[in-house]
Amino acid sequence: MKIHIINGPNLNLLGRRNPEHYGKLYFPELMNQVKKYAEEKGLQMSCFQSNHEGEIIDDIHKQLDQIDGLIINPGALTHYSYALRDALEILEVPVIEVHLSNIHARESFRRTSVISPVSTGTICGLGVKGYFLALDYFSLSNQ
Ligand code: DQA
Repeated sequence: MKIHIINGPNLNLLGRRNPEHYGKLYFPELMNQVKKYAEEKGLQMSCFQSNHEGEIIDDIHKQLDQIDGLIINPGALTHYSYALRDALEILEVPVIEVHLSNIHARESFRRTSVISPVSTGTICGLGVKGYFLALDYFSLSNQ
C-alpha cells in the first residue's frame, strides 16, 4: 500500500514555529519517524512539502493513479484554498486531513476547513501523533 504525505506552508519550520501549538520536534526528524512507523506497518511512504499552493496541486496531480491513500496537513491553505480542495476531490483514494493543533479551539478563521468536506476523515489537536494515527487508519484498512 502506497501512502503519500503532503505538508503545506510553514510546516517545514516545525520545531521552531509556535512550539506551544505545534511542538518542539523538527520537521525532518518528524518525517523520519513517521516514515519508520509506516515501514513497520508494512506501508510504503513518500512525502512532499511546499510553501506554494500551485506546487502542492501539481504534486497531487502527479499522485493520480500512483497512490492508495493521502495524508495531508495543508497548513493555512486549509482555511481558504478552493483550488486545493478541487484537486483533492479528483483523487479516488482516501484522504486524511491532519492538523497538529485543535483548529476549533484557536482563532475563528481556523475553525473553517474547506478541505474537510472532500476528506475521508480529519484528525486534529493530537499533535504529531495525528500523522501516526492516520497511518494506523491505512494499516487497519490493509488487513
Ligand atoms: C495547522 C493549523 C493551521 O491553521 C495552520 O495555518 C498551520 C498548521 C496545524 O497543523 O495545526 O499551518 O494545519
